Amino acid sequence: MVWRTKTGSFDAVRRMAIGSIPLCQERCFAASKEKNRLMNTAQKIIAAPRKSICRISDHGLWDTTKWAWSHVAARYREWSLNIETESWVDVDKLGYDPECHGYKPITFARFDSVMKEIEVKPGEDVFLDYGCGKGRALVLASVHPFRRAIGVELSTELCDVARENIGRAVRRLRCPAIEVVNADASRYEVPADVTMIFLWNSFVGQTLAMVVEQIRKSIEKNNRPLTLIYALPQGEKDVMAECDWLYGRRQIPASFWTGIDVFVYQAGKTERTVYQPLQSEPVR
Ligand SMILES: C[S@@+](CC[C@H](N)C(=O)[O-])C[C@H]1O[C@@H](n2cnc3c(N)ncnc32)[C@H](O)[C@@H]1O
Repeated sequence: MVWRTKTGSFDAVRRMAIGSIPLCQERCFAASKEKNRLMNTAQKIIAAPRKSICRISDHGLWDTTKWAWSHVAARYREWSLNIETESWVDVDKLGYDPECHGYKPITFARFDSVMKEIEVKPGEDVFLDYGCGKGRALVLASVHPFRRAIGVELSTELCDVARENIGRAVRRLRCPAIEVVNADASRYEVPADVTMIFLWNSFVGQTLAMVVEQIRKSIEKNNRPLTLIYALPQGEKDVMAECDWLYGRRQIPASFWTGIDVFVYQAGKTERTVYQPLQSEPVR
């Protein structure tokens, strides 16, 4: 019975029995687990050529090569930063309201292309990631010389993973202060020194509306130039385009495999505005 059980009961039975079973049987458990793991890998390998042919016929050889390369490069980046941020966490597992999304991080290449468009003032700018998940964007931002970086995350478990990743990567980071806050973004008051906000498709609906209001209030209270990087699935309504306190809007082109549009907005003018408006007219 124990051998055929594939789910949690396998582990439960194993945990109950672990004190009494002989060593050889322990090895059998391990071998069975390994067999499962290998079978999944084998299945993936068998399916890979068919998937690749479909992808090439849909997107062409050049885009498929770029896609494949982005995966190899991602593995390398994770290894070089000593982090593990790749595996997604479904919203069902997190038990959220339907308007809050699960964990699905930005791709490394995409984050690089966003940062290329943005000027970071060393020791001055402060980065905030709404829904930091396992901390990929937070770690990647902290490679740049931000004065401090904050990640806000609803899931306690994901906060712990993010903190572990930051701890492992810290020697490679230039930002001296990185904080993960376990909170609901809609109730989180934006600190007065935040100058760059990253919103990678973390929530929609009322939660997003409340977050937008928090940002507006923060600028109203402490007027300062602020950059908002906002990502949403292609074709979805861009709610930021309706905010008359945001000016300038630039789109960072999407790669076919992410299906996510990224827009950069500016907010909060002062007499000494450093950022130039990207478009003279407010976006309606
Ligand atoms: C699409 S992932 C973004 C991951 C991260 N920004 C990155 O690119 O590395 C969305 C994240 O938002 C978190 N989230 C969803 N609703 C939230 C809320 N109301 N407050 C804070 N975090 C939330 C999820 O737990 C998930 O980790």
